[in-house]
Amino acid sequence: MKIYSFILAILLSFNTAVHAQTGAASLYQDLGNEAGISKIVDESIIIFLQDARIKDTFKETNIPRLAQLLKEQFCVISGGPCKYSGDDMKVVHQGLGINAAQFYALAEDVQIAMDKLGISSATQNRLMALLAPMKRDIVFPKPRT
Ligand code: HEM
Repeated sequence: MKIYSFILAILLSFNTAVHAQTGAASLYQDLGNEAGISKIVDESIIIFLQDARIKDTFKETNIPRLAQLLKEQFCVISGGPCKYSGDDMKVVHQGLGINAAQFYALAEDVQIAMDKLGISSATQNRLMALLAPMKRDIVFPKPRT
């Protein structure tokens, strides 16, 4: 009898693992796959560059490169079949002096872009939940003077 419950436990955990995988893949699908993510990023960047709270940070940024890398990154974190070829988040953002308000401003702009593209708020929230923990690699405490 014991062996049956053991096999059952293995089958159940396999089932959970499969669900976890398809769950991740479905955010990528819900965002509209590669084409949908591409639109989200392009639309977001237009908004970043008009947003007085953050636009100056991007003055010297290679925008086509940023767009490409954000597309790769959103694809990866949403469970899509991509590779991120950019630099480490901490290394990239350290020294840019980004504060928490600016982090939230950028996240809000991504949501405005998704609203514009008709992405449901449930799907938006799933992407936001994946972006939120990146704050610790983007906003650094001010050095003591
Ligand atoms: C979850 C939020 C964020 C994500 C996922 C993110 C992602 C990225 C990625 C993938 C890159 C390209 C990395 C590379 O060049 O190799 C990048 C660069 C950059 N990000 Fe962010 N970022 C976030 C938040 C922010 C915020 C809040 C700001 C400013 C308000 C910002 C400003 C920049 C700038 C200026 C660059 C270009 C740096 C350079 O070219 O040296 N980022 N970011």
